[in-house]
Amino acid sequence: MAYSYYCKLSLLFIALTMAFTTLTGRTAEAQLSGPIGSLLGLFRIDGILFCSLDGTSNGTTTPIFHDAKVQLRCGGAVISTSVTNASGAFSFMLNPLQFLLSYVLDNCRLTVTTPLSTCNAALPSVGQLVSQLQSVGSTVVGLLNVTQLVPGGFWLLPPS
Ligand SMILES: *[C@@H]1O[C@H](CO)[C@@H](O)[C@H](O)[C@H]1NC(C)=O
Ligand SMILES: *[C@@H]1O[C@H](CO)[C@@H](O)[C@H](O)[C@H]1NC(C)=O
Ligand SMILES: *[C@@H]1O[C@H](CO)[C@@H](O)[C@H](O)[C@H]1NC(C)=O
Repeated sequence: MAYSYYCKLSLLFIALTMAFTTLTGRTAEAQLSGPIGSLLGLFRIDGILFCSLDGTSNGTTTPIFHDAKVQLRCGGAVISTSVTNASGAFSFMLNPLQFLLSYVLDNCRLTVTTPLSTCNAALPSVGQLVSQLQSVGSTVVGLLNVTQLVPGGFWLLPPS
């Protein structure tokens, strides 16, 4: 189902690209860096959240941060929300026809909206863990080019 969804979006994308080329006489590839004539793309964001000031494991005793709400925000807008599971894992899929990788790396970030004090009362109840994204490469799965993104490193953003 996901496959046919991306197929349709891709056909739309190609149609728009051709219209753009016809209208402007320029090739849209440079403008959109689009995957024309190549694979369909998909961005995957995965991470594991721990109950600490930087969201990482500080030795084996750091518990995971389960049931934490993680938002994917791009340019300030909330694009998607994920909740960490019992293993502290969260995951997002992002449609690259909507976003370019360079845009995502520069403008998107993860925000944990559940306070740290939820998983450890000794940790702050205000402020939010935030992290930019980094790409760790892409793999081809069938017709899909899946670009894997991970948090670049969480830090506690104090309340404004
Ligand atoms: C990690 O553990 C060390 C020593 O137990 C402590 O000083 C440090 O503040 C901890 N760091 C975080 C991010 O919790
Ligand atoms: C949490 O999600 C991760 C990644 O999808 C998965 O590997 C893990 O088994 C899940 N854990 C639980 C307890 O469901
Ligand atoms: C897959 O996508 C990434 C990010 O858009 C790109 O850098 C890479 O060249 C693509 N790989 C292939 C085989 O198309």
